[in-house]
Amino acid sequence: MTSCCLSDFSYKKLNYKKYVVDSRLRYFKPHATKIEKSFAEEISFSLSQDSKFINPKFFYDSTGSSLFETICSLPEYYPTRTEIEILKSLESDLLPFLDKETKLVELGSGASVKTKLIIDIFTKLQSKTDYFPIDISEILAESSEQLLKDYETLHITGIIDTYEGGLEFLKNYDEKKNLIIFLGSSFGNFTPDDGKLFLKNIFSTMKSGDLFLIGLDLVKDKNILESAYDDSADVTAQFNLNVLSRINNELDGDFDLNNFSHYSIYNENEQRIEMNLKSLMPQSVIVSKSNLHLQLVKNELIHTEYSHKYTVNQIKQILNDAGFEIKKMWLDEKKYFSLTLVSKN
Ligand SMILES: C[S@@+](CC[C@H](N)C(=O)[O-])C[C@H]1O[C@@H](n2cnc3c(N)ncnc32)[C@H](O)[C@@H]1O
Repeated sequence: MTSCCLSDFSYKKLNYKKYVVDSRLRYFKPHATKIEKSFAEEISFSLSQDSKFINPKFFYDSTGSSLFETICSLPEYYPTRTEIEILKSLESDLLPFLDKETKLVELGSGASVKTKLIIDIFTKLQSKTDYFPIDISEILAESSEQLLKDYETLHITGIIDTYEGGLEFLKNYDEKKNLIIFLGSSFGNFTPDDGKLFLKNIFSTMKSGDLFLIGLDLVKDKNILESAYDDSADVTAQFNLNVLSRINNELDGDFDLNNFSHYSIYNENEQRIEMNLKSLMPQSVIVSKSNLHLQLVKNELIHTEYSHKYTVNQIKQILNDAGFEIKKMWLDEKKYFSLTLVSKN
């Protein structure tokens, strides 16, 4: 590893392929066979358990990513517009934490819409800004090309992979300070135990002086929460069901989407939205590439996503427990959503 960037040797050793789009945009992606193999294996495991589940990272094929963008603009889906409202107000607070060389790293960058509000702050300070989006979805390539058009001084190195893969890729990348951002309360998709491990992983990949900015959704009225995850236009239902289409397309499955419904409830004790697919009848399903022959009973649930909600005190506790020092916390006026900036020390 050189002190300025990843050598060819390093990314090949990590099993990535490099795609150079132009002098300001390149991205890295694991080999296609590795991606398909892990999808097939994970589905084979998760759908053969007594309590069946599908990891929410599999929502995001190109249809899933585009449905998520539609969800973000639904009237019921308050998280996106609320987080944007907070991001718009934090420039003067955030600027003092950055320097002329700070790199911007984003976990689950998606369409990078909110990221623009952070890039705007970086470009006020820097004549060249380095951005490292990490996302499992190909949407990363599309959104990066759009960002290049919007910012002449932006240089992008994208990693189309899991959060963990991307963090490992960037570990020891160079000596420059990083601001790692994780928006949209995507952290809430982890179980509490997995979330703890994930934060510890982020903490261990950070250098002294690096910063981490995390957007987390707050506990609120059950009706507001349940509408946000079960909208009147049924876009969230389509998003949820689309994961079955993806399994059909990529793993030779034969799920009949008409035989399932979107079922989402807020569990107050666990402080989380629980999203499931409900089998509307007894049925059998084959997923050839996962060697699966499933039997589902009527009303059986396939769990697809948690979306945990937090109190301000819980957020402070979780971040402190992972070793972080809290630098600043911002809430919107209604106290619906939070952004917290932490450092390693
Ligand atoms: C809920 S969306 C949030 C997108 C954007 N950050 C926002 O706040 O609107 C989650 C994003 O993270 C990506 N993603 C989900 N699980 C992932 C994982 N395990 N590793 C990497 N990316 C993941 C998805 O492709 C998607 O773009």
